[in-house]
Parts: sequence; C-alpha cells; structure tokens
Amino acid sequence: MKKIIIANWKMNPSTAEEAKKLFGSIKRTIKKAKKIDVLISAPFVWWSFLKKVKLCAQNCFWEERGPYTGEISPKMIKDAGAEYVIIGHSERRNVFNETDEMINKKLKAALSAGLTPILCVGEKKGEDAEEVIGRQLKEDLNGIELPAQDWSASGGKIIVAYEPVWAISTSGGEICSADYAKQKLDFIKQRFNGKIIYGGSVDSKIVNNYLSVGYEGALVGGASLKAEEFVKTIEIIK
Ligand code: PGA
Repeated sequence: MKKIIIANWKMNPSTAEEAKKLFGSIKRTIKKAKKIDVLISAPFVWWSFLKKVKLCAQNCFWEERGPYTGEISPKMIKDAGAEYVIIGHSERRNVFNETDEMINKKLKAALSAGLTPILCVGEKKGEDAEEVIGRQLKEDLNGIELPAQDWSASGGKIIVAYEPVWAISTSGGEICSADYAKQKLDFIKQRFNGKIIYGGSVDSKIVNNYLSVGYEGALVGGASLKAEEFVKTIEIIK
C-alpha cells in the first residue's frame, strides 16, 4: 500500500507570493514520488495555484450549506477538487474547543460527501495516552461503520493520525521515540482497522523511525514549510 505524507501548512505562509514560492520548490519532488502519496493541506485561499497535487482541507463543518459564517462544507471541499480533510487536529480541539461530538459529526459529513477524513488523535503532556486515545476513537467513530476499509473504492474510508500533542511543533525539542509510537500504533490497531499515520515534529531525520515500526505515513507540519527539508523528508523515505 502506498505511504502517505501530508504537508500540513496550518495557517502559513502569510502571503500568496511566499505560498507560490514554497509550492514551486516542492512540486517536482511531489510529482516524482511515485511510491508515496503526497498531499498538500494548505489554507483554502492558496488552493487555486496548487495545481496537479492532491489537496487536503485542514477542517470542515458538518452542514452542507447555510447560515454558518466562516465555515466550509465537505461538499464545497470536494467540489474544489480535494479528496481529503483533516478532522480533529489537536489545534482544533485545543484552540477552538472542538469536542468529540463535533468531530463525530464532521467525520460523518465528510464521509457522506465522499471525502477521506484524516482523524487526529493523541494525548497531551501528562495525560494517560491510552485512556485519551481510546476515548477519542470510541467517541469520534461512534455510529460510523468501517466496513472492510475498501481502498479501491472512493470515499467511505478513514485514516487515523496518531499525534502525541506534546511532540507537535517542538522543532528540535522533544520527539516521540519509535518504541513509544509503536506501542500506541498497536493500541490503535486493536480499535481501528485501517491506515494509521504518525505526526509530531516529523522531518527528514526521524520520518523513517515511525515508518519502520509500521506507520503508513506521516503528517508533517513545521518541516513542510521549509522547502529543502520537506524535499529531503520525501526523498529519504525508504
Ligand atoms: P509539526 O506538526 O510537524 O510541526 O509537529 C504536525 C501537525 O500538527 O500535524
């Protein structure tokens, strides 16, 4: 199965000029990467010039249309040419107070619009990881049937991203060990039968640590904003 790398630009860069420059420096590598699906998860305002790449939204609302100022629906995302949407990122949960109930509604809406959601789960520093991940998976996936996770058909599938919150955006600081990540991978596998990827300060130096213990890809934040480092991260994947 193809590995998946998601460049999560978050709310960056802050001008179109910078975004075009960043895209210009990574697009050749993305095209060349035949064994890896590279997705760009950029702010919506930059989508129009991200040509010929797989797009991933960073969030969505659960209604299809209506009086919800500031929101974007899964149907709009699909219509704009994306196949993927990140749901329940820890920044959405922690900065915007998204609850598991909201995340569950977003997952259902994304699936019915034919998108592939990337559901993020993970514990904060000091929290009981298995208690948190177990609860998030149970509540977020509540009522969602995950039949055979048929990857040949479009839609109806979910990817889970394990992202220990304490290891996100540490840029050279605390990282999650491969052993610890592997334990959590096994824990998630007992509850979710599908593609599982890793996220948390991933760059060219550590990406293979996670892939070698069984993760099928990575969510890359900070390192995806540095063209040279992102290219290296893609190229170093075994
Ligand atoms: P990071 O972000 O690579 O900067 O830690 C990952 C994420 O939040 O998805």
